[in-house]
Amino acid sequence: MSENILVAVAWPYANAEIHAGNLVGSYLPADIVARYHRLKGNKVLMVSGSDAHGTPITVRADAEGTTSQAVYQRYHTGFLELFQSMGISYDLFTSTHTSNHFATSQTMFTTLLKNGFLYKEKQFQWYSPSQKRFLPDRYVEGTCYLCGFEGARSDQCDNCGNLLEASKLLNPRSKIDGSVPELRETEHFFLDLATLQQDVTDFLNERQNYWRPNVVRQSLGQIQTEGLRGRPITRDLDWGIPVPLEGWDQKCLYVWFEAVIGYLSASIEWSKLEGNNAAWRDWWKNEKAKTFYFIGKDNIPFHAIIWPAELIGVGKQFDELYGEKDPQKFVLPYDVPANEFLNLEGKKISGSRNWAVWGKDFLSRYDPDAFRYYLTSIMPETRDSDWDWEEFYHRNNDELVATWGNLANRVLSFAYKYWEGVVPDPGALTTIDIQLLETIEGGFDSVGRELEQVHLRAALAEVMRLASEVNKYLDQTAPWTSIKEDKLAAARAIFVAMKAIDSLKIMFAPFLPFTSQQLHEFLGYSDQLFGTQHVEEVQDDLGSHTILRYDPSSAAGEWKASDLQPGARFIKPAPLFKKLDESIIAEERQRLG
Ligand code: MF3
Ligand code: ZN
Repeated sequence: MSENILVAVAWPYANAEIHAGNLVGSYLPADIVARYHRLKGNKVLMVSGSDAHGTPITVRADAEGTTSQAVYQRYHTGFLELFQSMGISYDLFTSTHTSNHFATSQTMFTTLLKNGFLYKEKQFQWYSPSQKRFLPDRYVEGTCYLCGFEGARSDQCDNCGNLLEASKLLNPRSKIDGSVPELRETEHFFLDLATLQQDVTDFLNERQNYWRPNVVRQSLGQIQTEGLRGRPITRDLDWGIPVPLEGWDQKCLYVWFEAVIGYLSASIEWSKLEGNNAAWRDWWKNEKAKTFYFIGKDNIPFHAIIWPAELIGVGKQFDELYGEKDPQKFVLPYDVPANEFLNLEGKKISGSRNWAVWGKDFLSRYDPDAFRYYLTSIMPETRDSDWDWEEFYHRNNDELVATWGNLANRVLSFAYKYWEGVVPDPGALTTIDIQLLETIEGGFDSVGRELEQVHLRAALAEVMRLASEVNKYLDQTAPWTSIKEDKLAAARAIFVAMKAIDSLKIMFAPFLPFTSQQLHEFLGYSDQLFGTQHVEEVQDDLGSHTILRYDPSSAAGEWKASDLQPGARFIKPAPLFKKLDESIIAEERQRLG
């Protein structure tokens, strides 16, 4: 039975380029899961966009002497290019700077207010006398009052993972100019998390036995130790979504409050683009839908506590507002498979110090599937992991090229040469042939099971293990020698190997979509495993926007075993992957820092 799968992907801040850490943290795992479910025949909706309103953007604009709008548009354009060349197949990649997102966020705000989950409070906030303005939380740094960590941001501590009350930060200093800020009074709206605490706790308890332990620990742990307290959701800022109340239009909705609403607003925008305004309800108002949120561990509290609290607080009223006859509650996150961090050559990634592997720069020298392969193999699913250029070189040459690429190329070239582009007739299969095919076909279950639980490293390792089984089989049956004295035996081994490769191509496809498609064509198929991506320009009250869309209509790939038949025609193959020279290790290390 087909399932509805929402793949909600973290929204990149449109103030910096995307690096390997961002890709491995959320965009790539999301894409792998989306592609798998599409092959399974499930109804997938994968959405995200540029997080256009963070103060990081304002600060960058100030520094460059340009507008926030210009900064956001520049990076947004770069994201669209990168995602296309990396094959991150969003059904819709939009931004938070659209009329649709403004309206959706403002509706969520007013509905929470009506439902009694917002309250007003005067608050002391860090104000910079030197800059003459209130400082955004993340631009005030100091000592965490919970764990003593000295590099804590005023809203969140990256050491103990807790959300902080900004005004309680010890030894504050402005990250912009190092000056000491002072506390000044201002009035804001707060999300009443204390009242929502029981519902959020129930939501987490229901999921704790299958969520990643780190995610459960960070979210339930916080509730158990401190309990939830109200969080301000408006800010003294002018770049963002205006608070939709009289007298409040000088203030904006807090970027985190509205960015998470992006998952919903992007789904609504996608529906409108599809010409079916209610389509989003299949994922958001349907108890059976499964919603996955792909994020890095620094985003856990916002997705496991605040976003569910917003959805619970709004309840059925969102539907009532839109005249829905049978209002439903929102579907709460099914899983939040947050990844840990990726380091680079043993050190923390730092964009500003150029200690990073930049997405676009990497792709100017290497292929996307080589990138995707290595990133998946080191995905920080349970603990922080490390990008190491020497390991990249080895995994590319010893696994991707040697185990998988050479297998496909060797078998197809040999078959092409001796059977002239026609799949050979194997005659009757023997036990070892049948055993190999059964082993390979078992992969659709074993690999699928790992993918369903978002164990992507294990899933990829399992496909690679199966590829080695085909290599072992070929060592035993040795068609390269039997071709001379027993052409039928050679035909049998080659047929079986081709069929195995044809199946493995599908199992590799979520991870390696580009080369799987190439191999698909070498094997004689002329259709597409997946749909196609394209950039589109759209207009609304806020101006013109570029968006990335996915068109699934050409997608013909299916998560099932090969049905390759003797006599079918195929074409002359070429190597799928490039063997790298050892010199790249030193060259790439040179570029760092
Ligand atoms: N832009 C933020 C970040 O990259 C938030 C991402 S997820 C969102 O950390 F849904 F909240 F936008
Ligand atoms: Zn701390």
